[in-house]
Amino acid sequence: MNTRNPGIANFGITVIQSRHSVRKFKDAEVPQEFVRKALECASKASTARNVQPWIFVVVKEKETLAKIAELAPNGAFIAGAGVGILVFGEADHQYVVEDCSAATQNLLLALHAYGYGGCWIAGNGKDYAEAVRELVAVPDKYKLMSIVAAGVPDVGGITLAEKKKLEDIVFNEKYE
Ligand SMILES: Cc1cc2nc3c(=O)[nH]c(=O)nc-3n(C[C@H](O)[C@H](O)[C@H](O)COP(=O)(O)O)c2cc1C
Repeated sequence: MNTRNPGIANFGITVIQSRHSVRKFKDAEVPQEFVRKALECASKASTARNVQPWIFVVVKEKETLAKIAELAPNGAFIAGAGVGILVFGEADHQYVVEDCSAATQNLLLALHAYGYGGCWIAGNGKDYAEAVRELVAVPDKYKLMSIVAAGVPDVGGITLAEKKKLEDIVFNEKYE
């Protein structure tokens, strides 16, 4: 419920609650307009001291997506994505993991809000991180933090991953 407009669904909460990973995509484009809007949302993420220690590389060429899929078997589905967004962070920044993770989540939420499916592919600390960075010619003052594969979902309906119950993970005042 929207507390200022009771009875009206809160779109932001609906988007957060319904986001889910999508790994199968139709052979369709994600229009640049939506890629840009999603990147704008990424750039609005909270960062320590507002440093914004990131750059984003948008990959749409099938050949490059296929090479990333080869390098990163855990993200092989990126080969069928309409777009891959590679999140790089300033390698020597103290809060690079936190900041780039916040941006990555914003990317996923924005793409979902526009009706595109997506999935986070691990980047930070992976053995392919350097190879992916070199593939897209990013200077070594940055390191790969995450990859988002996105596209038009090729799945029937929504399957939400099971999440832990709040009763098991939330404590009031003290752990007990
Ligand atoms: C840091 C991180 C790394 C992830 N890496 C991968 C990955 O390499 N491949 C993959 O298929 N999914 C990856 N995921 C997606 C998770 O598997 C997924 O979010 C989780 O299973 C929960 O499902 P949901 O996103 O539908 O809620 C990653 C997610 C995070 C946050």
